[in-house]
Amino acid sequence: MLYAVLVTVLEPPPLRHENPFKILIQDLTDERAATVEYPAGDTRFSLHRTKRFIEDPLPLLLEAYERYGPIFTLRILHSNVVFMLGPAANHYITVSHASNFLWRESHFRDLIALLGNGLLTTDDPYHRRSRSIMLPAFHRERIAASIGVMSSETERALEQLVPGTRIDLYTWTRRLATRVAMRALFGLDPDGHTAHSIDAAEMFEQALGFYASGYQYRFIRTSHSPWGRLQEASKVLNKMLYSEISERRATGRRGEGVLSLLLDAEDENGERLTDEQVRDEMMTLLFAGHDTTTSTVSFMFYELGRAPHLAERLQAEQRAIECCADDERRAGRARDDARGDAAQVPTCLDRTTQGD
Ligand code: HEM
Repeated sequence: MLYAVLVTVLEPPPLRHENPFKILIQDLTDERAATVEYPAGDTRFSLHRTKRFIEDPLPLLLEAYERYGPIFTLRILHSNVVFMLGPAANHYITVSHASNFLWRESHFRDLIALLGNGLLTTDDPYHRRSRSIMLPAFHRERIAASIGVMSSETERALEQLVPGTRIDLYTWTRRLATRVAMRALFGLDPDGHTAHSIDAAEMFEQALGFYASGYQYRFIRTSHSPWGRLQEASKVLNKMLYSEISERRATGRRGEGVLSLLLDAEDENGERLTDEQVRDEMMTLLFAGHDTTTSTVSFMFYELGRAPHLAERLQAEQRAIECCADDERRAGRARDDARGDAAQVPTCLDRTTQGD
């Protein structure tokens, strides 16, 4: 019995199917076996809707949102997909009712080819164990400590911009976000020997192209198919990650990032993570940490382009945040020095009220 528990925690369960045709059949069987109604929506088969979802999903989702509200069903290719939009739905899925949901056998399953068994593609108890290992790296102070990396990388990226020239903003943002994620999360030097020879942002772009490709192409598994290109990019990224893992294991070099926590973590049975498990969590964090921010920042520029008068408000907000971050750093230093009470350190607010 004890052995069984250990095994469930040390390895996530195998997927029911990996063959895309078998997955398709399994999805249809699962739908038939459903014992509750799907939320209202457009549930009839439609190639037109499927094509729109791949090529330009936002208008499709907004239309459905206006018609059905924040929770609705759309049939995408063969399968009924339930969309739950907004903060309340996010809270329901990821916090208050997370145990009602499975990630590994959901659409996140498609990411396993790239990310392996990391936080995004596993369920409890494996997921809980990984989370508890990584949690210290996401404490407030550790996040605040990354601000320096974000600022210096942003300045570096801005220096490359030449006024009057046109750039692909999405690519520029992805490069910046990837470098920040590599440095802030893992202390991985993007200009170091192995990483420098690899364009990690480009490799992610190539790999993620699979998920943006037409469904008909996703079934093809040849080397020139979107799947083949994903595999190729994944191999290159693996090379970078495995070489960092083995170098750190061999030299004992650590640093402050999540990678050190992963390398040294032990569970209550004294078991350590394998190289493959460390890679999976690193790849997951690199992906989760850069792809989301790339889209958010790119959309921010897009919206600013449409409403340039908002730039000033944004800059004022940024100045206020930088100012508070400075205050926090100074307050932290004051606490460290044990030379007095942090409350005595003047803050942004004090300065504002003093008319500074
Ligand atoms: C604008 C930026 C971001 C957005 C919109 C965003 C959004 C989300 C959402 C919606 C989820 C829940 C997914 C699910 O489990 O169904 C999630 C999970 C996650 N995000 Fe983010 N995220 C952002 C930035 C980041 C960054 C910067 C990191 C890492 C440094 C990160 C790491 C993660 C991880 C590890 C998970 C999985 C957590 C778990 O399953 O325990 N995210 N994110």
